Amino acid sequence: MELFNKTIQQKAKLAKERSIFSLFDLPAESAIDSLRSMPNRADDFSVSAAELYLDYSKQNITKAEIAQLISWANTQGLAQKMQSMFRGDKINNTEQRAVLHTALRAPEQVKKRVLGNEAKQVEATEQRMADIVDDIQKGKLLSATGEKFTDVLAIGIGGSYYGIKVGLSALQPYHCTGLKVHVIANVDGGAVTEKLNTLNAATTLVVIISKTFTTQETLLNAKAIKTWMLTQLADDNAIAKQWFAISSNVDKAQAFGLEPSHVLPMWDWVGGRFSVWSAVGLPLALAIGTEHFNAFKAGAYQMDKHFQESDFSENMPVLMALIGLWNRNGLDYASLAVLPYDHALRALPGYLQQTDMESNGKSVSSEGEKLSWKTAPIVFGQEGTNGQHAFMQLMHQSDEIIPTDFIVALQGTSLLEEHHKVLVANCFAQSEALMQGKNIEQVKAELLNNGLTETEITALAPHKTMKGNTPSSTLLMQSLTPKCFGAMLALYEHKIFVQGMLWQVNSYDQWGVELGKQLSEQVLTYMEGEAYADNIDKSMSSSSLKLITLFLDQNKKT
Ligand code: F6P
Repeated sequence: MELFNKTIQQKAKLAKERSIFSLFDLPAESAIDSLRSMPNRADDFSVSAAELYLDYSKQNITKAEIAQLISWANTQGLAQKMQSMFRGDKINNTEQRAVLHTALRAPEQVKKRVLGNEAKQVEATEQRMADIVDDIQKGKLLSATGEKFTDVLAIGIGGSYYGIKVGLSALQPYHCTGLKVHVIANVDGGAVTEKLNTLNAATTLVVIISKTFTTQETLLNAKAIKTWMLTQLADDNAIAKQWFAISSNVDKAQAFGLEPSHVLPMWDWVGGRFSVWSAVGLPLALAIGTEHFNAFKAGAYQMDKHFQESDFSENMPVLMALIGLWNRNGLDYASLAVLPYDHALRALPGYLQQTDMESNGKSVSSEGEKLSWKTAPIVFGQEGTNGQHAFMQLMHQSDEIIPTDFIVALQGTSLLEEHHKVLVANCFAQSEALMQGKNIEQVKAELLNNGLTETEITALAPHKTMKGNTPSSTLLMQSLTPKCFGAMLALYEHKIFVQGMLWQVNSYDQWGVELGKQLSEQVLTYMEGEAYADNIDKSMSSSSLKLITLFLDQNKKT
């Protein structure tokens, strides 16, 4: 099936030849004059929704090309597929599940319509979360030693970790319960030990989060933390009193030692990487309180409504998705840089790596057909301005064109206003520099102006040209509030939904993570026995066998 119709493919070839800057209708001879009388491209290529503003005017695309992408998306049934998701059809076809994380942030009447009887369980869970937060804050829920809790330790990985992690840092200014909330994900004992060394078992509440309650890293971490707590407190009731579990596997959670009333549900129709809106968000709610957590959900709901109700030409998630396809499949750019110019959003690139790449990093359609087009880009990034001292050199002077999402709040959260001004100036400057670049004539004129000789200029100029023509969008918000943060996560969720639908993949399973899990079990058995010596099933490479031998030799010495 053709991903793009011929016209769009021809347009994409044209786009490769032109400079984005030319799209600002700048007459060649007086670029600067025209810049001052900038035609209204910036106005025409921007959209506002849910207190967010998206400037996509630095993308290498014209109104006509956007219009063609929209009409093509309509031929793919985008509107119908959106309705199908929101009403609870089982669009996760390989696991026969609905995709309804949006229901978790919708008003009661929407929950009732979409979830039927399960709406009551969802409401009860929301109330349970609020009660836990309240009881702990008021000292009604005390530790096994009768003390108030001071710390919360959340144990999870992937979607059972990233949403909490990014939320805790993004909403730092909204932490209001007095509880210090920590997250542990990696199975590396160094990470667990480092964290436990900072905690007092007598005043630490533990929340273990695992939809399956079978994830190797989470269970091993939980066992280590359980041992730590029982040793520290010498009280068998400690787990029942100080632990909560968020899981769809209630039996396994109870078998681990959890009180049934301390197990909050996860539903099959909520994918792990979309679960922060559920009881998975309990550790975040324990930090920012129920009111801010509800504002976070309300912001996401505002974006849901915008997504469902807005014409595609003014629809922020749809436009982001189509521009992403244009860059990926039309212009053949392999990556997407996510550069939040905000220390509080430093965990956002990692969160979006899972949300985007675990959803659409596939090459088989939902119907099992091999795809003949590329899908998810390689998502990377880190907070600005740090990226400018890490990978921006490559973005400016390598041949790779890397589309970029800049994210910045107009108002900072610190009192250091000069710092925020410099941060924002760098963000805007980088998007301009990536688009404009600097050609050899401009470099030579600059070097001449700096007094270099012709010989020096000839030698140095080629090294100082910048390719430019790198497309970017800039997502602005007044300030990083719970509402704006919720709207932003929902924006990316819907962008990913639209792209997955147009790429015809199932964005909601993740079979690709299974092989690594299986092989790690096999390596572990080799590490525990001599079985690897004759490699019974001859399935493991000599490389891996050698590595295992080196590990075993080293551990024999210690
Ligand atoms: O990364 C694979 C994955 O299955 C994610 O989809 C999920 O969020 C994570 O592992 C943790 O799974 P669980 O919540 O079942 O422990």
